[in-house]
Parts: sequence; C-alpha cells; structure tokens
Amino acid sequence: MDMKLVFQDAAGFQTSLLVVFAVDVAIGKDADPLIALLTTSDAITNAAAVIIASDEFKGGLGEQVVLHGPNGLKAERLLIVGLGKAKTLSIDEVRKAAGAAVRWAKPRGVRQMAVAFPEDHALSDEHLDNLPCTLLCRALIEGAGIAEPDWDTYKSDRKDRSIEGLTIVAPEGEESTTREIQTGFEEGKIIAEAQNFARSLVNEPGNVLTPTELGRRAAAMCAEKGLKCEVHSTAKLEELKMGAFAAVAKGSAQPPALIVMTYEPKLEKGKTPQKDAPVLGLVGKGITFDTGGISLKSAEGMEKMKYDMAGAAAMIGAMHAIAALKPSVKVIGVICSAENMPSGTAYKPGDVVTAMSGKTIEVLNTDAEGRMVLADGLHYAKTLGCTHLIDAATLTGACVVALGIINAGLFSNDENAFTQFLGATRVSGEKFWRLPCTDDYKDQIKSQIADIMNTGGSRWGGAISAAMFLKEFAEDTPWIHLDIAGCAWNEEVKPWHPKGPSGVAVRSIVEWVRTYSA
Ligand code: BES
Ligand code: ZN
Ligand code: ZN
Repeated sequence: MDMKLVFQDAAGFQTSLLVVFAVDVAIGKDADPLIALLTTSDAITNAAAVIIASDEFKGGLGEQVVLHGPNGLKAERLLIVGLGKAKTLSIDEVRKAAGAAVRWAKPRGVRQMAVAFPEDHALSDEHLDNLPCTLLCRALIEGAGIAEPDWDTYKSDRKDRSIEGLTIVAPEGEESTTREIQTGFEEGKIIAEAQNFARSLVNEPGNVLTPTELGRRAAAMCAEKGLKCEVHSTAKLEELKMGAFAAVAKGSAQPPALIVMTYEPKLEKGKTPQKDAPVLGLVGKGITFDTGGISLKSAEGMEKMKYDMAGAAAMIGAMHAIAALKPSVKVIGVICSAENMPSGTAYKPGDVVTAMSGKTIEVLNTDAEGRMVLADGLHYAKTLGCTHLIDAATLTGACVVALGIINAGLFSNDENAFTQFLGATRVSGEKFWRLPCTDDYKDQIKSQIADIMNTGGSRWGGAISAAMFLKEFAEDTPWIHLDIAGCAWNEEVKPWHPKGPSGVAVRSIVEWVRTYSA
C-alpha cells in the first residue's frame, strides 16, 4: 500500500473513498449518543448532516456508515467511522478506527482511498483532550498499514484485493503542526512496515520457515536495511558451549540458527563514543515448530505451534524499524532458532545439560524448550556487551491462563527498565501486565541434582517459573521478559484486523529502544 500525505481541504480531494472520523460527545453512561465529526470542513459536515441527525449511527469504535455521492464533496463516497466516546478517546482508538476503515474498503474493491486527518480542535476542550499531532498521524498510518494484509498468500484462488494507495489529507496549517504531522507519517510508515514484516514471518508454516530459512530472511532484511548480520549454526553453538540451546536443537533434522543482528548508531562529527553508553540486547525465542519433543504435546491445536517463533519475529521486526529510525543507541538482536522435535537424537526428561553461563539444568519437560534456548541467548547477549536486555517469547500456556489474550505478560528485575517500557507502551498502545519474579519464587526451579530445573516443581505460577529460570541468566543486568504466548496470534476477527499473526511487541520494543537514544 502506497501511503501519501497531502495538506489541503479534504472536501476538494478527488478519491473513490474519503474517510472521516466521528466521536460521541454525550456525557453520562445512559445518555443518547451525540455525534460530532472530527473535521473543520463545513462541506463534509453538511454532507453528513442527515445521517448524523438520524440515530442510525451511534459512533461506536469501528462502527461505519457510508454515503454514496456525498453532496459538495469531490469524493465518490464518504465513510464515517466511529471512534467511540470523546471523553475517553486515545491514540489507540484512532489506530483501530483507521484499520477498520481499510478493512471496510478492501472487500468492496476500493483501490485508492483517503483519510481526513482527525481534527480534534473541531471540538471544544470540554469534550476532548487534545492528542499530539505526531502521534495521531502515526497511529493513523500504523492502524491502516497493519489492517491491510490478509493472510491468504497460500490460497490458490486468492483474489488480490489490496488497497493500492492511501492518502492522509490534513488541513493546511501552521508550519510547526505540519512538521509534526509529517514526522508522525514517516514514523508510522516505518513501524507498520516492520510490524507487517514480523507478522509475515509468523504466518509462515513450519515446513517453509525452518531455522535456516529464518536466518536467511533475517540476513536479507539486514542487508537491505544496512544492518550487520551473522547467522551461525551447530558448530558455533558447540564452540560457544551453548549446551541448553544445542540440547533443544539436536532432536531435529533441521539445523539450528543463531542469528546476530547489529545496529550501530552513526557518531555525530567530532563526537567520541561515550564509554558508558548503553547497549541494548533484543533476544527472541525462535522455535519454528514446537512439538513438545519427547514430552510430546497432544495433537489438538499442535498446528498452532508454528507461531512459536513470534518472539524472534518481534525482534527481527524491531531491528527492521530501528535501522530506519536510527536512534543513537547501539542495539544487538540475538535470535535463538531451532525446531523442537521428538527423535532418537532428541534431549530427554532427566537429562542434565550445561548452559553457556556454566549453570547446570535438569530437564524435567522437553516442552519447556523456549527457556532453554533463551538461557543461552541472554547470556550470549551479555558477552557481546549488552548492558540492558529484553526478550520476547511465546513462552508459557500458563501466561495465557493468567492474563487471557488481551494483555501479554511482562517481568522485570529492574524498575528503571520497567518504567521506560511502561512509557513505551503508552505510545505503542500495546497491553502488557506485570507479573512478579522476585526471589521469593526461586525455590520453584530448584533442582535436586543440578543448579536449576527447566519447569516449576508444582504447576502453580507456570509463567513465573519460566521467568525465574530466565532471570538466572540475565542475572544483574537490567532485563525485561515479555511472554507473548496469548497475544502473538489473533484468534478473533476484529473490525481492524483479521485472524492471524498480530506482530505484538514490535511497536513497544522499538519505542523502548528509543527511550535510550541519547
Ligand atoms: N510454546 C509453548 C508455550 C505456548 C503455549 C505458546 C500455548 C503459545 C500457546 C512452550 O514451549 C511450552 O510448551 N510451554 C509449556 C511449559 C511447561 C511444559 C512447563 C506449557 O506452557 O505448557
Ligand atoms: Zn514447548
Ligand atoms: Zn515453545
């Protein structure tokens, strides 16, 4: 989808579909909806007057009504999209409503569309708190961009219904506002593209996206974006003594891939590199298929385990955006990719393996393989000089039991890193809920015969046991762990997205990285 930004009167913009946003300004829970359009264009307001006056359109989030041949407008159709209650309006509703507009247009054969920039100053302050222009425009582009893909590339009777072009039509205004909108537009394009790239990886079936193929795609992305990338396999795992990662990999005919992507910020002229500058490590779980191994999963729903590399995809997607946004902080992406298979060469319950850090791990369940590969990934990132770590993984079913599919789990050993991440989620609109990983829980992973074991002693607090295990390898380095098991795959159709890979965490990780930009 080609995205453009123009500054002109939206009523005079020639397009087959013009989108305008509406809010409900009625106060009070039981009050009848009172609809207001977020535009200062009298022509648009007049064209929509009759439908707005009827009580057919309630302005709910993602609700839509279309007018053909709207009077006084150059557009062939006017699509009014609801943002919900004005009082509680946030950037996230704008992102979703923009997505809903795109998903309305696609099946109707629309190829070119335009969106009237939501002018929140069209309403008085008592109705609406003003939202920053940069974030508004960015959310529009992100929402539209991530709503566009339909995951149907493997259908042989696929009909191409892509939207070819989308133009944001913003009013001409002060130079500073224009510049803010322009910035949001550029950032939104970068982030939507990165998130879609991550989703396209997660969408691939396990027979196509093997660890080797994941390595190839990451390397191709890095080459295109000017990032350094190394892809290693079994020999390097042995050399680095990555006993935990190697244990998982050895059950599969597919060799593992250790992918290292590096973003180095350009030094400004005359500046010397700062000695104590942070180096951020982005570590992703890249299990391209998780059968459970010898502790085999049941058949029901096992096909979903192709998305067990969504943490890796999030990190590769984040690196994609970082390469374009160019923050002034060094970032290293470390992906630990393998296939978890049962076979004559597979690791077994009861095995004891030595991780790269030297810690010994008793394997109680081969299905707890994510923490095994991440153990070595986190430690390796530290040896590469990372001062701050973040990992993302579809790590535990227990996290889905605890939080459902709305919030992903978040764990951290460091209040500053956590606070910065929380700030980042306010921009990204993604939902994470913090769960504890204090040392009170340490006994849960104490082993009889080794340093630690790879599952909790009891079945309670499984997501915490997994986080406690990872914490053993982050040690004192500030670290954030994102358990995205419940959020990496959209199980439900929403007006703003189809079923399929969500690309969760890309936006938050990128924003978190930017908080360290000097
Ligand atoms: N990949 C799974 C976790 C998962 C479950 C992701 C559901 C997405 C949806 C992980 O490797 C796993 O199997 N974890 C086990 C751990 C257990 C054996 C301690 C689990 O959650 O059951
Ligand atoms: Zn597993
Ligand atoms: Zn897994």
